[in-house]
Amino acid sequence: MPISIEQLEKMITENRSHTVLGNTAQYIPALAKQDPNLLGISIMCPNGSLLNAGDSQVSFTLQSISKILSFISVCQEYGLEYVLEKVDVEPTGESFNSIIPFEIHRPGKPFNPLINAGAITVSSMLPGTTTDEKYEQFTSFLQKLIGAPLAIDEEVYQSEWRTAHRNRALAYYLKESNLLELDVEDALDIYIRQCSIKISLQDLAKIGLIIAYNGYDPIENKQLFDKEIARIAKVLMVTCGMYNASGKFAAYVGVPAKSGVSGGILASVPPKWLPETHELQPGYGIAVYSPAIDASGNSAAGTMLLKQLSKVFDFSIF
Ligand code: DON
Repeated sequence: MPISIEQLEKMITENRSHTVLGNTAQYIPALAKQDPNLLGISIMCPNGSLLNAGDSQVSFTLQSISKILSFISVCQEYGLEYVLEKVDVEPTGESFNSIIPFEIHRPGKPFNPLINAGAITVSSMLPGTTTDEKYEQFTSFLQKLIGAPLAIDEEVYQSEWRTAHRNRALAYYLKESNLLELDVEDALDIYIRQCSIKISLQDLAKIGLIIAYNGYDPIENKQLFDKEIARIAKVLMVTCGMYNASGKFAAYVGVPAKSGVSGGILASVPPKWLPETHELQPGYGIAVYSPAIDASGNSAAGTMLLKQLSKVFDFSIF
């Protein structure tokens, strides 16, 4: 069933009240200031058409959404095997910035690249020797996916840098275990830079589409990263992408997704065969933004909107 803008606008109206179930990220002052009432969605279709509804003309920082993208970028450069020597692919059941799983399983490696310990490790592995080179490499990888350059939100970067006490502590643990390819301060710098990159809903939806199509860009007809890397990325998104709510998200939405504390969610709906109608349902890239996040760190209204959308259009892969 084709998706119409009218249906999407109706869903936005129905889900907007769920913003009261969350609050903007209070631990990063620049994110705390975001308007908690916003709710927008952008869906990128494989023929290049875009469906926008609600507060869709917004830009926001990637935050933890960047973690799956740096993982893909480092794997594409050095191969999956090399990266998976440093980070595992297991969910933790702890909050995203917890030190507990890493500390009690030593000697070991971070459980997955989507918790902060794993993400800081992966950021330090980005190609290049200096943080500037690593940042350039990462943004040029993103530029290949969306076809336009991206920039940092300086205010968010500064705000995070000043309040990154727990991440600094995590980075010292990682350094002690020889997992960082940079000094602590440089590893934090590149991690916070990648979290502070500003993106529009439309560009994020394009990235979601490429992940849904296993690294292949159906609009430009180009394979941009390996299928096997996309497969592992989707597994990570399903099992760990929504943190401690990943199980519920898989049950009620059922598509690979990654959230960030700025209130963005990147979702990839893979194409699927519908045996009942003998039809191939196309894949979609979906980006939602609503900055009021719940206790797990996921956009409250964004999650509810995706739940309704998945139910109506039968997006679940399970
Ligand atoms: O490490 C942090 O605190 C943030 N820069 C990113 C965390 C984040 O987005 C977790 N998301 N749900």
